[in-house]
Amino acid sequence: MADQDSREGKRYQTPQIIKYVNDTHAGHDSALAQAFAVPEGIPAIQVGPSEGKLLYLLMKLVGAKQVVEVGTLVGYSAIHMARALPKDGHLHSVEFDPKHAEVARKNIERAGLADRITVHVGAGVDVLPTLDGKGPFDAVFIDADKINYDKYGAWATEHLRKGGLVLGDNAYLFGELVDDSDRGRAMRAFHEHVAKTCDSVCIPTPDGLVVGIKR
Ligand code: SAH
Ligand code: DHB
Ligand code: MG
Repeated sequence: MADQDSREGKRYQTPQIIKYVNDTHAGHDSALAQAFAVPEGIPAIQVGPSEGKLLYLLMKLVGAKQVVEVGTLVGYSAIHMARALPKDGHLHSVEFDPKHAEVARKNIERAGLADRITVHVGAGVDVLPTLDGKGPFDAVFIDADKINYDKYGAWATEHLRKGGLVLGDNAYLFGELVDDSDRGRAMRAFHEHVAKTCDSVCIPTPDGLVVGIKR
């Protein structure tokens, strides 16, 4: 069957089913629950539980040791990824908003991962060049300002090892991917750059997740 999301008008991904599979495969312990509960005043725009678990599994699959994230929020995806790293592995996570970074550091501390995650405060375009020397990286997860995905994607493939992963959340750009807009053009440039430099796919999560393996 070509289309696997519905049959005779019946949608397969009901809220009850999503809850069941999240509970069964991607349940929260107290550290993940804490980081998922974004405080008031900060937008709850973290990845979903199954995407978080997928990030963890992908880190395990590539044997990730050195990882970069752009867009920490309060550390939910960072905790998932860092849990897949060995003791001597490290996640560098970049966050523009100092308020988000402060909450993230508390959540990371509570998760017992303070030695495995560094939250760098600043804009991705400014902080990423300061990480050049710490590479090559095993994975780069991009989940920050969408207008700069083309730049983040170019930095990622330049600093990934062969076989390393580039990941991009919100790859459907909230439904605006093929729009005639600056953000649309930037996100399409990201897709096309990853497709050119990696073996890649866009997984149909609610808002699309690009996965590329650097060639
Ligand atoms: N990855 C997180 C969610 C990130 S939400 C998770 O799944 O748990 C996007 C984050 O990117 C927000 O916290 C926002 O403040 C941050 N952000 C926005 N512009 C940025 C920039 N230019 N550089 C770095 N981070 C940025
Ligand atoms: C927004 C950002 C995200 O990374 C996301 O997954 C959802 C929403 C936002 O900026 O609104
Ligand atoms: Mg996102």
